[in-house]
Amino acid sequence: MEEIRKIGVLTSGGDAPGMNAAIRAVVRTGIYHGLEVFGIKRGYQGMIEGDIIPLATQDVSGIIQRGGTIIQTARCKEFHQYEGRKKAYDQLMKFDIDAVIVIGGDGSFTGASIMSKEFDIPFIGIPGTIDNDLYGTDYTIGYDTATNTVVEAVDKIRDTASSHGRIFFVEVMGREAGFLALRSGIACGAEGILVPEEKKQLDKLRKYMAERAAKKKSSIIIVAEGDEEGGAIGIAKRIKEEFPELSIRTTILGHIQRGGSPSALDRINASRMGSAAVEALLDDQKSIMIGLVNNEIVHVPLNKTVKMDKDVDRNLLRLAEVLI
Ligand code: F6P
Repeated sequence: MEEIRKIGVLTSGGDAPGMNAAIRAVVRTGIYHGLEVFGIKRGYQGMIEGDIIPLATQDVSGIIQRGGTIIQTARCKEFHQYEGRKKAYDQLMKFDIDAVIVIGGDGSFTGASIMSKEFDIPFIGIPGTIDNDLYGTDYTIGYDTATNTVVEAVDKIRDTASSHGRIFFVEVMGREAGFLALRSGIACGAEGILVPEEKKQLDKLRKYMAERAAKKKSSIIIVAEGDEEGGAIGIAKRIKEEFPELSIRTTILGHIQRGGSPSALDRINASRMGSAAVEALLDDQKSIMIGLVNNEIVHVPLNKTVKMDKDVDRNLLRLAEVLI
């Protein structure tokens, strides 16, 4: 394999708190090892357009605590086509970039895996998404901060819910996965948690409403946006029709979950993974994702992270049922 001297780093897909900490770690580890590091702006869109800037140590000063991504992100349709990827490759060659580190989710890794094969250029993935839905890693960057954001918001909702004796349906993000809903639901003592990985939860919810909801001061039901029964608004409407005596309200937390200063855990995980990504490149690795399993850095083939599904922690699901 050719010697790596110049590397690019990009963030792609939905932003996640902690991405800046990962960028900082990539830049500083790269420079530590004598590499030149470039920021590819707006994900694959910027790669296609050649929106590429050099990043020095001081360019990543004071960003570890900032949410979002200083090099911005995008979802790029053009990159799905060979012609788009060819344009992107030509730009990389123009800047003499030998390898790319992609911080993002499974859509971003699909593109990375294809381009890496087509043009024989090393790509290393760093998992960054609040959804935590990537196979091969226990944590993705942003998941912990988003969990804390949900908990903080729901604690506030709990105050008004208990004052009025109401039932609140709170919808949280997660795309097709229930990791964020389950973890935050346990942390805020939710009376119900609906996730796509577990079926027949609506029946349990009906039973809860019939037997216990009226006796409690208030209830919080967390609904993952990808639940097969639909979003919080639809589910709340159905429950209200069946139990008209209950006072029900709905909150959709939305993009608030993607913002904010990253938690210490996200900063540390992002720093470890960013640094490990550069070291993997120097170790002649290509087409892998850096993951964290049992708090240890692991290397997972990129195509495996895309093809395989990750299940939610079944012990947490059971715990949620016991504690309700
Ligand atoms: O993947 C992160 C995520 O925030 C999902 O939880 C959500 O479904 C989606 O992105 C929203 O995407 P957008 O910001 O493009 O509306």
